[in-house]
Amino acid sequence: MKHFIHLKDISTKDLRKIISDAKKRKSLRKKLSTLEVDKGSPLKGKMLIQMFEKASSRTRISFYLAIKQLGGGTLTLRSNELHFGQGGESIADTAKILSTYGDGFMLRTDSDKKIENFRDHSTIPIINGLSPSSHPTQVLSDVFTVEEIKKKPISKLNICWIGDSNNVLDSLIAASVKFSFKLSIGCPKKFEPGKKVRDWVKHNNRKIFIYNDVKKAVRGADVIFSDKVISLNDKVNKKKKIEQFKRFKIDKKLMNSAKKDCIFLHCLPRGDEVSDEVFLGKKSHVWQQALNRVHIQKSILLYCFGKLR
Ligand code: CP
Ligand code: NVA
Repeated sequence: MKHFIHLKDISTKDLRKIISDAKKRKSLRKKLSTLEVDKGSPLKGKMLIQMFEKASSRTRISFYLAIKQLGGGTLTLRSNELHFGQGGESIADTAKILSTYGDGFMLRTDSDKKIENFRDHSTIPIINGLSPSSHPTQVLSDVFTVEEIKKKPISKLNICWIGDSNNVLDSLIAASVKFSFKLSIGCPKKFEPGKKVRDWVKHNNRKIFIYNDVKKAVRGADVIFSDKVISLNDKVNKKKKIEQFKRFKIDKKLMNSAKKDCIFLHCLPRGDEVSDEVFLGKKSHVWQQALNRVHIQKSILLYCFGKLR
């Protein structure tokens, strides 16, 4: 059984297969409307259960569309509506129940341990829809988007991240190892990636480049990624953290310090880390990035359901 929990645990070959399937499916859908089903209805009769312990717009809707376009169905739950979320039922029992009713389970959670527990007790594939240490479906989709726009393998590009060391960055770091691309990170010293992540990169004979000077970080960049400085449920002094990131705001001047054809990507939702001028400007591809989530989720589902050709 194939789970989709952390990019670092999935082979590059499988990640590549998912991306190329998404590319094929996307081009075949050009004339189809939103809810029309892909030829062959590959997930006919299958049900994905999605559960959210945190807010979501894109992940929730893109998985809904993804399974529908493959001929299956979905049920979306908030954990606080279940016995599990109320504290009355264990993860083990909930995982067994979900395995009885559904064919796949997508979880957005504030605990990596919970995902592991679900995986250990369920007999259906588990997908990580965002956890404290990972946002794998987002980042795989972003690799797809970068290659779609730049029309070359990501390994030939300089990727830059300006922002907090959070779940999205951790997955981007994992992607930099899996897909062999250069990753430069710009953030205040206090918010650099943790030792565990850096050791994992070293262990895999790769390097990430960390700068506390934002201009140095973006030099030579083909793509600049960012994310909200304050993540969902971030339990920090928000005012203080925003202040600490003030010098790292992505504005037009900073974009001009990167390569001339550098693009801007952001997983959304956004905060003050980027100016409106950049976010809504010509170099920004954030709407295409959000839409591509649907296409990659489909191929992730096929991978998990053992139907990826
Ligand atoms: N980018 C992303 O995961 O968005 P949502 O939080 O809206 O799902
Ligand atoms: N880093 C953000 C991503 C939101 C999609 C968070 O965890 O809130």
